[in-house]
Amino acid sequence: MQIPKDVRIVEVGPRDGLQNEKQTITTSTKIKLIEMLTDSGLRYIEAGSFVNPKWVPQMADSAKVFSGISRKTDVTYAALVPNLQGYERAVSVNADEVAIFAAASEAFSQKNINCSIAESIQRFETLISAAKENNIPVRGYISCVAGCPYSGNVDPKLVAKIARDLFTMGCYEISLGDTIGVGTANQIKTIIFEVAQEISIDKIAIHAHDTYGQALANVYASLEMGVQVFDSSVAGLGGCPYAAGASGNLATEDLVYLLNGLGIEHGVDLEKLIQAGNYISHQLGKANQSKVAQAFNNKCK
Ligand code: HMG
Ligand code: MG
Repeated sequence: MQIPKDVRIVEVGPRDGLQNEKQTITTSTKIKLIEMLTDSGLRYIEAGSFVNPKWVPQMADSAKVFSGISRKTDVTYAALVPNLQGYERAVSVNADEVAIFAAASEAFSQKNINCSIAESIQRFETLISAAKENNIPVRGYISCVAGCPYSGNVDPKLVAKIARDLFTMGCYEISLGDTIGVGTANQIKTIIFEVAQEISIDKIAIHAHDTYGQALANVYASLEMGVQVFDSSVAGLGGCPYAAGASGNLATEDLVYLLNGLGIEHGVDLEKLIQAGNYISHQLGKANQSKVAQAFNNKCK
């Protein structure tokens, strides 16, 4: 199969990137980050989450973030929501889309959302019918597709079954999350192959974490399978509070550099993106985790 000519990037930095940070990040910093990201050309931003703030305190101000951003009309500002309560909070501040999250591991589902996989699917049914009534698109995540921090191996056929269930219920796209970044290229291809038996390839996105340094290799493997949507996080920020050892997401800068080299369209200005990554890294007092940003910053010294 020929690799795609263009891809859509789902920027998850303001949500997945920041949710695990223990230090205070002001609402205005989050808003400025989102605005810098959209200025770089990104057209889909997961701007926050509406989960129980006791579980993820860093996202407690997501309503203020959504209300404070200067919106561009051609940008989708999405919110991660675990249940109807989260959905209603997101809609009350005009989130354009919501994303729900299931897991392909019972142990992870219990730790992350305090219920079994089957119970989570039931919860999502109520949420999705409310979203259908309001014409709010719903994206679906499946976590731990390549391995679980608590129970180890995950069966790709189970991933495919959950993808089919979420898609049948009304999710327009299923993002396959390698939450702890353990997957390798052929394994990711097998997972995509199995999921593509149930839903078409243009409904599949890949959400890679870079814990074992495999994210870009996995993106390339996914491109070879025909995947056209990739989640990534500026400056390689990220991690899930309920997945011990999970490090940052695939850095958006690294993804963009790879796509540039392959001549694949994505609509993002790499230099502006690096500035956004440098901004948030500086605010966090951390080095920018993107290799591409590091190389660029060193060259500009
Ligand atoms: P629970 O404790 O079972 O919920 O948590 P509950 O329904 O029993 O309610 C308990 C309390 O929570 C009540 O308040 C509710 O009002 C409140 P109280 O009466 O005790 O004062 N509550 C809420 N408050 C605000 N917003 C809400 C909400 N829901 C309930 N939406 C729940 C269940 C799902 C809420 C909890 O487990 C939770 O919030 N989990 C979220 C964990 C999380 O955010 N994890 C990180 C995101 S997932 C991720 O990063 C993976 C991903 O990136 C893909 C990948 O990498 O694989 C997406
Ligand atoms: Mg994630």
